[in-house]
Amino acid sequence: MTEAKKLFIKTYGCQMNVYDSERMEESLQGYERTDTPEDADLILLNTCHIREKAAEKVYSELGRFKHLKAERPDLRIGVAGCVAQAEGAEIMRRQPLVDLVVGPQSYHRLPQLEARARAGEKALDTDFPEEDKFEKLKRRPKAKRGPTAFLTVQEGCDKFCAFCVVPYTRGAEVSRPATRILEEARDLVERGVREITLLGQNVNAYHGQGADGREWSLARLIWALSEIDGLARIRFTTSHPNDMDEDLIEAHGSCSKLMPYLHLPVQAGSDKILKRMNRSHTAESYLKLIDRLRAARPDLHLSGDFIVGFPEETEEDFQATMDIVRAAGYGSAFSFKYSTRPGTPAAERDQLSEEVKDDRLRRLQALLTEQQRAVQDSMVGREVSVLVEKPGRFEGQMVGKSEYLHAVHFDAAGHVPGDLVRMRITASGPNSLSGEALQLA
Ligand code: 5AD
Ligand code: SF4
Repeated sequence: MTEAKKLFIKTYGCQMNVYDSERMEESLQGYERTDTPEDADLILLNTCHIREKAAEKVYSELGRFKHLKAERPDLRIGVAGCVAQAEGAEIMRRQPLVDLVVGPQSYHRLPQLEARARAGEKALDTDFPEEDKFEKLKRRPKAKRGPTAFLTVQEGCDKFCAFCVVPYTRGAEVSRPATRILEEARDLVERGVREITLLGQNVNAYHGQGADGREWSLARLIWALSEIDGLARIRFTTSHPNDMDEDLIEAHGSCSKLMPYLHLPVQAGSDKILKRMNRSHTAESYLKLIDRLRAARPDLHLSGDFIVGFPEETEEDFQATMDIVRAAGYGSAFSFKYSTRPGTPAAERDQLSEEVKDDRLRRLQALLTEQQRAVQDSMVGREVSVLVEKPGRFEGQMVGKSEYLHAVHFDAAGHVPGDLVRMRITASGPNSLSGEALQLA
């Protein structure tokens, strides 16, 4: 048998990219993963385009591999993901070290591209092919997995928020057929997975073909997944307020495997700004939705994304964002300064100064941190269920996640990854909670 070649993948950005990297790795038969680029026969950067100067950061990272290529001419270097999609052949022009460029919709062709790159060609594929890439991707048989996994069920976005590049890099909204998702979920569970996070840029807009031939909603899919024995927990991310249908709200109340945590970005609190962002919901409709969700599931932990300093945002508009944060109450949140993305509508508008953006971001983050802290501290004394993930930082310690996605540390005492343990929270630290296993009667 020939020795396996080594693959180094660096993943940027969202969880969908983490999932894509796993699938790319599996599809490259004859390779095994390495954590050090120095050992690699193939280096792949699975890139994200959502942050500012994303392409520039990829070029500077690529530059750092120059000496490796000089030492080992057999090394191949590839760029995948959304920067690959956005930049295309320009990457190879600007950085001749790059042998392979593959977009997020065509990476099922990676094995052929790798073979071409290995033969000395420059291999590029940034198509949006008709065929379903997930159908074409090879899986490695029954490799053991950790207790948590991501599973992409939906890709792309038709919403065209004025700040966002995703509809251009990931393309139109597509949902995978439910039968395929169920098959993949069963396979993950057989390999040791106990918690699955369903992924999509607009995951709650899921409307794939169901096992009965009809169109299924995300809620219907979640109910079908909940019937898989051995699967203990289901999560999904990320969602748009306009696609939060009644059956999904109801599932939050009645499906015991669906975790009480929801990432539901609002982005801003001023209706004027929401309109300029092309968000098609208002602050009031968002808050009403949160009320309905909390009526179904009172302990729901809410998470969100916020943008400050969007074009035309006044201090009053910004205060409306602070108000919506106070009214909704977040257990966790991600907040960003608006920055332009080429090709998106808001990039063409007059921009606010960096000083104003910095100041607003600082004030918003102070409020969000305070809320997050209060929610975390309020867990002390409460009973939670923890899915054990891995050894903690200290000897004899394990760490896992509560239903609310809080990291919980505890005394390992015979618990192994994959166990679900009832615990009482005893303390709240800077980034995690401490827990104590309950003695079951
Ligand atoms: N500027 C700042 N933040 C952005 N996001 C998306 N595009 C931009 C942009 N141009 C944020 C949004 C989104 C999250 C993933 O990234 O809040 O929900
Ligand atoms: Fe980044 Fe969005 Fe692409 Fe994910 S989908 S990699 S967040 S640009």
